[in-house]
Amino acid sequence: MKALITGASSGIGREIAKYLSSIGWETVLVARREERLKSLASELDCSAFEVCDLTSEEECDRLFKKYSDIDLLVNSAGCGVFGEFCKTDLERERQMLSLNIIALHMLTKLYAKAFVKRGTGRILNVSSSAGFFSGPLFSSYYASKAYVLHLSEAISYELRKSGVTASVFCPGPVKTEFGLADGISHGIGAISPELAARKAVDGVLKGKRIIYPNLQTRMLVFASRFIPREALLKIVAKQQAKKAGRSCQN
Ligand SMILES: NC(=O)c1ccc[n+]([C@@H]2O[C@H](COP(=O)([O-])OP(=O)(O)OC[C@H]3O[C@@H](n4cnc5c(N)ncnc54)[C@H](OP(=O)(O)O)[C@@H]3O)[C@@H](O)[C@H]2O)c1
Repeated sequence: MKALITGASSGIGREIAKYLSSIGWETVLVARREERLKSLASELDCSAFEVCDLTSEEECDRLFKKYSDIDLLVNSAGCGVFGEFCKTDLERERQMLSLNIIALHMLTKLYAKAFVKRGTGRILNVSSSAGFFSGPLFSSYYASKAYVLHLSEAISYELRKSGVTASVFCPGPVKTEFGLADGISHGIGAISPELAARKAVDGVLKGKRIIYPNLQTRMLVFASRFIPREALLKIVAKQQAKKAGRSCQN
């Protein structure tokens, strides 16, 4: 069995590649940093790598054409732009939306169609617990993860009789390089990328629709249904301000 993993040079994607390899899967590692991919590929059995900037639609097409024979697609590549909406850089946000939404959408569609034709295949999209909320100070990132969550959940229902599964992974904070460039800390309760990877892979192999890494995250999402939206906005805004070491007004 063969998996293609985006975002495999770091964090959750890297650990997913290692875990899949440890249970006998061939892997294709995708990201921009060649040295990291090369070094990981040399550690793993039966591993190839592909240097690819997924913000380019041509690159997404090329990837699909070159690796059409996979059994599992893992869309883990993602990034965030932190700050107040009126102050963040539009070009950085455009890049983020190209990666978190357009590239994930394109790869999901290209592979889903091919998998359905074949009658088998699995897709794992990495969203976040952020996908369930609106996120002041991290607004477009939260919105991009809501897109991933809702797209994946809907597709998984459409595909339920096709032999193909789509799963969406929704972790809370994970100790990776994510957000470090913007000075964001992971906060209390962050889990290791190894644990996140194991839960995500075990979930997708069981064909689960929504995968949480632990009970706390599942309970947080469940409990939030009973909190008024106005109050939730304030809670999330405070939480984000804390992570960035800022004081939160209101
Ligand atoms: N860490 C958390 O707290 C957390 C929580 C919930 C959800 N998530 C989600 O988990 C996923 C993985 O994040 P992570 O925590 O593992 O972060 P990470 O350590 O920063 O990894 C991000 C990965 O995306 C790749 N990437 C970034 N831009 C790319 C581009 N233009 N083209 C191709 N690859 C690109 C990076 O590789 P290169 O730089 O080499 O290209 C890297 O491999 C993301 O979708 C994130 O939203 C993270």
